Amino acid sequence: MDKFVIRGGNPLLGTIRVSGAKNAALPAMAAALLTEEPVILENIPQVQDIETTRKLLAAMGAEVELGYGRAHHRTTICCRHLASPQASYELVKTMRASTLVLGPLIARCGKARVSLPGGCAIGARPIDLHINGLEKLGATITQEHGYIEASAERLRGAEIVFDKITVTGTEDLLMAATLAEGETIMQNCAREPEVADLADLLNKMGAQIEGAGSSTIRVRGVTSLHGAKHRIIPDRIEAGTFIIAGALTGGDVNIVGCEPGHLDAIVGKLTEMGVKIAHNGDAVRVAGYGDLTASDMVTEEYPGFPTDMQAQYMVLATQAEGSSIVTENIFENRFMHALEMVRMGANIKIEGRRAIVRGKTTLSAAAVLASDLRASASLVIAALVADGETIIDRVYHIDRGYEHIEEKLRAVGAQIRRIGEMLPKRVAAPLVRA
Ligand code: EPZ
Repeated sequence: MDKFVIRGGNPLLGTIRVSGAKNAALPAMAAALLTEEPVILENIPQVQDIETTRKLLAAMGAEVELGYGRAHHRTTICCRHLASPQASYELVKTMRASTLVLGPLIARCGKARVSLPGGCAIGARPIDLHINGLEKLGATITQEHGYIEASAERLRGAEIVFDKITVTGTEDLLMAATLAEGETIMQNCAREPEVADLADLLNKMGAQIEGAGSSTIRVRGVTSLHGAKHRIIPDRIEAGTFIIAGALTGGDVNIVGCEPGHLDAIVGKLTEMGVKIAHNGDAVRVAGYGDLTASDMVTEEYPGFPTDMQAQYMVLATQAEGSSIVTENIFENRFMHALEMVRMGANIKIEGRRAIVRGKTTLSAAAVLASDLRASASLVIAALVADGETIIDRVYHIDRGYEHIEEKLRAVGAQIRRIGEMLPKRVAAPLVRA
C-alpha cells in the first residue's frame, strides 16, 4: 500500500486548479445507462472511483472510453448493448456509490441485480430510502445472498417523500423517474449542486425535470432518452480542502476553476474564524496570516456546512485559539481522523456526535493511518502544518477522490512524496481505453 511522506512547515504559494467533482461525475456516468446513444462527459477527475465506475459499466456490456490529457479529461460511454444489468460485490464493496446504477438499470432494462454495499468506515449507510422509492415507482425488489434483485415491467410515476435527505438516493430515483410512465414528484430531496448538475445532464438527454437543487423535484416521464455532451461541475470539496491547506500553512494560494457559489457555507465559516478569503470570478484566493479564533461548526445537508469538509475543518480548529465544538449530524461514525490527530498532538475529546477541539496546539509529525477519503485529506493538511516528517499509510483512500493531490501540492511548495510498497514498480496501465 502506498504511503505519503510529508515534511511540514512550508507555506503553500501559487495556483492550484480544481478538478471536476467526483460526486457529480459518478451519477453522470450512471445516467449513460438510460440511453442507447453515446454520452460524453468532460472535466472528469482522474481518480480511482471513476476507474471503478468504468469497470462497473464495462462489465455490464457498455463501451467506455476514458481519456485524460492536457486538453481534456473526458469519457464517452455507450450503453447500446447491456448484456448483464448487474453490479458485482467485488466492485460494489470498493465503491458504495455503485448503487447509483440501480435506478437507471431498472428504468432502462426492467431488471437489475446489484450487490448490497455493506458497511463503511463512516457509518452504516443503508440504502433503504433508495429501495423504498423504487418500490413506490413500481419496482419489485427482493434481497438475497447479499444482492438486490429488482424488476419492473415499466416504472410508473409516483409521489415520493424522503424520510431523510439522501444525496445518492435523490439521484438514483431522479434517474429512474425520467423513464417512468407519468409524473413523479419527489419531496425532501437533497439540494446539493451535484444533484442539480445531474438534472442538467438528464434534461440535455431529453428528460423533463424541474426543481433540481431545491427540495421538491418534478419529473415528467418520457419513453426514451438520447445522447448528450456535458461538462461536470468543479469539485467544491477539493476546493475547500485546498483553502484550509493554504490558510493553515501561512501561504497565499489562488484556487482556480472552482464555482465560488458552491462554497458559501465553507467560506462563511472559515472567514468567521479569521481566514482571509477573496473571490475573483472562478477563483478563490486564500492568505494564511493572522490569528484564528475558535468557532463551533455543525455539519448539515447543502447549503449547510458539508460533512465532507468536517475532517478538514477539525484540523483548522486545532490551530485556532479557544474551543470549537464540531457536531457531525450526517454520519454516525465520522471522527476516525480525530484519533489520528490526537497522536499528532491535537487536543480533541469525542462525545457522541460532538468533538470538542481545544486550540491552539502544536502538531508534531507521526506515523498515521488514513481511514476514509476525507479523513486522509485532513491528515495531509495536518502533516503540512506539523513539525517534522509525517508518514500517512493507506493513501489509496485519498486516491479515490483527489486527482494527483501530491503533484498539486508540490507545485505550490509542499514537501510531499509518495512511497510505494516495496514491490517492483507497477507499470501503470494507460488510462486511455479503447
Ligand atoms: C453522498 O453519499 C456522497 N457520496 C458522500 O460523499 C457525502 O458524504 C454524502 O452524500 C452526504 O453529503 C456521493 O455523492 C457519491 P446520503 P450518500 O445518502 O448519498 C442516511 C465523499 O467523501 N441514509 O446523503 O451515500 C445515511 O446513512 C462521500 O465523497 C439512510 O438512512 O449519503 C446518512 O446518515 C462520503 N438511508 C444520511 O442518510 C438511505 O437509503 C445521508 O446519506 C440513504 C441514506
